[in-house]
Amino acid sequence: MTNRNTKGHHPGKEAAGRAAAELVKDGSIVGLGTGSTTAYAIKALGEKVKKGLDIRAVVTSYQSEMLAIQAGIPLTSLAENPVLDIAIDGADEVDSNLNVVKGGGGAHFREKVVSLSANKFIVVVDDSKISDTISMAIPLEVLPCARELVQQQVAQMGGKASIRPASRKDGPVISDNGNFIMDAAFGEIPNPQEFADKLSNVVGIVEHGIFTNTDKVYIGYKDGKIEL
Ligand code: 5RP
Repeated sequence: MTNRNTKGHHPGKEAAGRAAAELVKDGSIVGLGTGSTTAYAIKALGEKVKKGLDIRAVVTSYQSEMLAIQAGIPLTSLAENPVLDIAIDGADEVDSNLNVVKGGGGAHFREKVVSLSANKFIVVVDDSKISDTISMAIPLEVLPCARELVQQQVAQMGGKASIRPASRKDGPVISDNGNFIMDAAFGEIPNPQEFADKLSNVVGIVEHGIFTNTDKVYIGYKDGKIEL
């Protein structure tokens, strides 16, 4: 998985992450997403655990596992708790109908599993992620043996899929599940649900980064204010 832009303080991300953590009540099982905005929520949840609240978490990546352990949040699994009370996660782009694109960190497969296992899925972003229509390249987790086939099928859909290069070495970004991460550029996507269904039919894609199951988005601004 990539390790992007997680250093430095981001007041907008912190405001959104902390506000979402406030939704987590004593006795909750929470899904923890991946990325720098969720990291603030994880820290805030750790503070609640230290105050004595009974909160347990299911993680979506090695990154969120390490952060949860550092924060002192007891971990559980979907095997033990198949239904979560709430999941909190970041996003790379959010449209005006709460459709989101995720997978900038390459963790969207487990993030989707966890978000769909939760009664409430809360997305936390800073204001740079908001757009009227989804237009960024869609992250794909792809079985390595199927990468050319995926590129051909994406081309038939009018897009171009490229392997995401690892920043510090030759070769592709490998997901926590051992698969390739690709990014597929299609331009604007005005019907995310329809498009998501089409991508789900592409043979070789383990999961794509369009999420249409968001319940609420918390948007944090540089001045520390948030908006729902
Ligand atoms: C990882 C993700 C992240 O949630 C997304 O990339 C946003 O990250 P950040 O909060 O660091 O901007 O989808 O797969």
